[in-house]
Amino acid sequence: MQTTQVYAVNRQQTDCLEVRTTDLEAPPAGHARVRVEAAGVSYGDVLFQRGVIPGGPKPPYTPGCELVGVVESLGAGVTGLEVGQRVAALVVSGGYTSGINLPAERLVPVPEGVDPVRVAAVGLNYFIAHQMLHRVAKVESGHRILVHGASGGVGLAFLQLAEHIGGVTVFGTASAKNLDIVRRHGAIAIDYRAQDFINVVRATVHEDGTINAATAYDKYGTVHAAFDPIGGPHFWRSYSVLRRGGRLVAYGQNDALRDGQRKLRIGAVGFLGGIILPNLRPDGRKTTFYNAWSLEKSQPHAYREDLTEILNLLSADKIAPREISTLPLTDAAEALARAERGVTGKLVLDCR
Ligand SMILES: NC(=O)c1ccc[n+]([C@@H]2O[C@H](COP(=O)([O-])OP(=O)(O)OC[C@H]3O[C@@H](n4cnc5c(N)ncnc54)[C@H](OP(=O)(O)O)[C@@H]3O)[C@@H](O)[C@H]2O)c1
Repeated sequence: MQTTQVYAVNRQQTDCLEVRTTDLEAPPAGHARVRVEAAGVSYGDVLFQRGVIPGGPKPPYTPGCELVGVVESLGAGVTGLEVGQRVAALVVSGGYTSGINLPAERLVPVPEGVDPVRVAAVGLNYFIAHQMLHRVAKVESGHRILVHGASGGVGLAFLQLAEHIGGVTVFGTASAKNLDIVRRHGAIAIDYRAQDFINVVRATVHEDGTINAATAYDKYGTVHAAFDPIGGPHFWRSYSVLRRGGRLVAYGQNDALRDGQRKLRIGAVGFLGGIILPNLRPDGRKTTFYNAWSLEKSQPHAYREDLTEILNLLSADKIAPREISTLPLTDAAEALARAERGVTGKLVLDCR
């Protein structure tokens, strides 16, 4: 089978992607060949390509962590999948392609009638938000949580999934133009440029439930969990609003790439000061750096269970991504460059 595949060939500008035509061999034992229909583009793809995230794939490689497509053929020994079936998968890399062989256990059936572009738009964002909420921070009704970048792809997923839990007080940071969408999802919106989120979170809700802006500096904060993709010193600031027993879940390093420049020192210092050192303090607060593959060893069933749950919620219209923009696969470089500049909503590559 001939495939169109996009390669990241260096760590320079994101528009340095190459489109190549390659032959895809028959799927080996235990694998299925998928004709890819759509692949999601995320800011994490930019961070991988620019080499900001330690342990990411090295060029040349095919970017893309989420894809949806149709099973085209099966390798020996595969059961539980059928040719013609629509499936979704999350992968470390390889999504920007028109065809791929993947281990059968990575492929999760997509419910009938769900648009593949919408599947690609929710896959990774909602999966990771779900895992961080339920498996890492164990958020439940009555909890207070802080979500940074609340109007972005992952941020909005947090808001919608928290609404689903019910009874969760959510503080969401966003820029002024995006505060309305945060409020529409029932969150307390914080303009991260005009306001200090620490003051707002501490001042708004105290342990005893009172609201009092004058006593903004308790020893501990009041949130059960904070979700932070910003990185650098921001991790420490998010940690500072946790109550005893609270958890900071860090999952990105946006600050390690500013205006196209890699700031690896900011990333490293943030990791040390915001993730490693706080865990040594005997104050009952914990920190975790999460990525989409964090739980694969400790909870091997989590991947399929959680992706299935997200696809079912999508099929039942219980979650919905913000507006989706599609570009053809061959415009992947433009898509990645747009992701780096910052987009509203979700970018999806049409790989058909
Ligand atoms: N760990 C993993 O496995 C994994 C997987 C996927 C994504 N991620 C990470 O998740 C993060 C978000 O990805 P995404 O696709 O949701 O990106 P996105 O749609 O571009 O959203 C990011 C949002 O962050 C906001 N923001 C920027 N600086 C901020 C600050 N200082 N304080 C608060 N908000 C700020 C922006 O809000 P405004 O537009 O309102 O300014 C933007 O909406 C990225 O860092 C990505 O690497 C991690």
